[in-house]
Amino acid sequence: MTTADPFGSTARPAAGADAAPVVRPARLEDLPRVVELAVAGMGWSPIMDLGPGFVSLIYRHAITTRVGFCLVAELDGRVAGFVLGSHDSKRWFRDFALRQGPRAALALLPKLFFPRHLAAIWRGATYFPKAHPEDPASEILGIVVDETQKGRRIGHALVQGASEHYRAKGLLRVKVGDIDVRNAASNALFSRYAEFQRSEPSYGDNAVNVYYWDLR
Ligand SMILES: CC(C)(COP(=O)(O)OP(=O)(O)OC[C@H]1O[C@@H](n2cnc3c(N)ncnc32)[C@H](O)[C@@H]1OP(=O)(O)O)[C@@H](O)C(=O)NCCC(=O)NCCS
Repeated sequence: MTTADPFGSTARPAAGADAAPVVRPARLEDLPRVVELAVAGMGWSPIMDLGPGFVSLIYRHAITTRVGFCLVAELDGRVAGFVLGSHDSKRWFRDFALRQGPRAALALLPKLFFPRHLAAIWRGATYFPKAHPEDPASEILGIVVDETQKGRRIGHALVQGASEHYRAKGLLRVKVGDIDVRNAASNALFSRYAEFQRSEPSYGDNAVNVYYWDLR
């Protein structure tokens, strides 16, 4: 979907008097809903161009890997958002390649004929050599809240859940990168927790912000 605001963050629903969301680890039965939220909320990400088969493999990995986590926020019994992260992004992607590599290659095969998709695959494959040497290994890799539930502090609940997860693992420095400078809601959310580090170029013409935070 192409809109003037691809991040859906210009409309800001009034906060309701809802009960606080319940944040819990995602289960495999949450996978279809997590993928649905990801496709709806991160349509701007080149990963989404790689097709539903590949996207589903990525989120299956996020839910099942031991070198990362996926948490969901439930409101009134329905999953209203998710956050996923790695304990160490290099290991997270290596684990993905080991466990889902053949299926991922099959899902990507038809895409290899399109230069636009090749660029996204290349960027994924060459991300780590380019990552800043001071970046923490632990990284929030994605967060989405249902369009109809935004502005109700579910994003905060998810970031706090992710922070608790990292603290319990003894991982006390966390990064979040690739936050488009125009993504007002995400920059507002992460700047509550993290110190701004830098802006850097990303997939397209747009700059992205990188944040780190300290859980000590
Ligand atoms: C980013 C996102 C997860 C925030 O979820 P949310 O539940 O609406 O956020 P919250 O209600 O917890 O609010 C978090 C902060 O952002 C602020 N905020 C929310 N919407 C905003 C907007 N449209 N413009 C500016 N600030 C906004 C809130 O006021 C709050 O700040 P505060 O602590 O200073 O009061 C949600 O907007 C989203 O799903 N965006 C699309 C996906 C995305 O871009 N993800 C990030 C990259 S992976």
